[in-house]
Amino acid sequence: MKDELLELKSRALKELESVSERPDIEELRQRYLGRKGLLILLLKKLVELPKEERPAIGKLANQVKEDLIRKFQSVSDSLTTKDLEDVSVLDVTLPGRRIPLGHLHPITKITEEICNIFVKLGFRVVQGPEVELDYYNFEALNMPKEHPARDMQDTFYISDNVVLRTHTSPMQIRIMEKTSPPVSIVAPGKVYRPDSDISHTPMFHQVEGLLVDKGVSFGDLKGTLTTFVHQMFGPGIDLRFRPSFFPFTEPSAEVDIRCVVCQGKGCRVCSHTGWLEILGSGMVDPEVFKIVGYDLESVSGFAFGMGVERIAMLKSGLDDIRLFFENDIRFLQQF
Ligand code: DAH
Repeated sequence: MKDELLELKSRALKELESVSERPDIEELRQRYLGRKGLLILLLKKLVELPKEERPAIGKLANQVKEDLIRKFQSVSDSLTTKDLEDVSVLDVTLPGRRIPLGHLHPITKITEEICNIFVKLGFRVVQGPEVELDYYNFEALNMPKEHPARDMQDTFYISDNVVLRTHTSPMQIRIMEKTSPPVSIVAPGKVYRPDSDISHTPMFHQVEGLLVDKGVSFGDLKGTLTTFVHQMFGPGIDLRFRPSFFPFTEPSAEVDIRCVVCQGKGCRVCSHTGWLEILGSGMVDPEVFKIVGYDLESVSGFAFGMGVERIAMLKSGLDDIRLFFENDIRFLQQF
């Protein structure tokens, strides 16, 4: 039996030398040292030996078992060391994976840029509801029912008296109703109209402005809006005030800037006029002051409203407004 034990040991060691993969080593270990392994089978024969031989053979069997366990362990340890040395498995010098950071939407950025210019001029930023009463959206802005000016701003009706606001001008009324003069606010936000084409989306953004105080003149309006245009488009840019009509301002003026694409020579973008309209404005109509209960004799004011997408497009030379809302990351990442 002594020979059988020694023979088993040398066979196991020899076979172990010929394998190099973890699963093969494990299989070999089971075959020799497992619960039903060759060593156990051999030891079962121990009882057949004469009593006096048993202790010596038992001792030898333990020795063989321990030697084999140690050898199997050291072979599997050396495999682990090899894995760790293999840099293609684990290269701790590789840079980590960056989590992409988002940024503000271009329309949000331009809205903030517009508001910041007015904040530096002393205006306060206010916001109000997008679902608006007919009264604030039209009526109180001197556009009674059946007024033709409503046609240009046909809108989505929630009910007979509730609409999605068509402009940010209702904020003029909401602020004047609860504040006594002086007032100087800008009101950014979403507005809605049922138009949809290359230059219109059913939802877009405006920034409204209102300044009411003692002795405010058309000169103040011109000075304020000129400062705005120069800060927004550059100090060299030409602008003009063109007479216009809005039911809630009198007199009214639209502001044009010299075409940023052709520098005034005339092109497709400016419809060959050399000018681009960027906002509507005017002196607050006395009718509006009456509606909010302001004293016509002691105050006057001006108001203005501009489309944020329009300004963003002029600044970046885009010709399709729909790009802003398609959420194509390749477009948005350029801002
Ligand atoms: N609310 C007008 C529109 O959406 C723009 C506008 C014009 C606003 C003149 C004003 C203003 O405050 O004075 O077409």
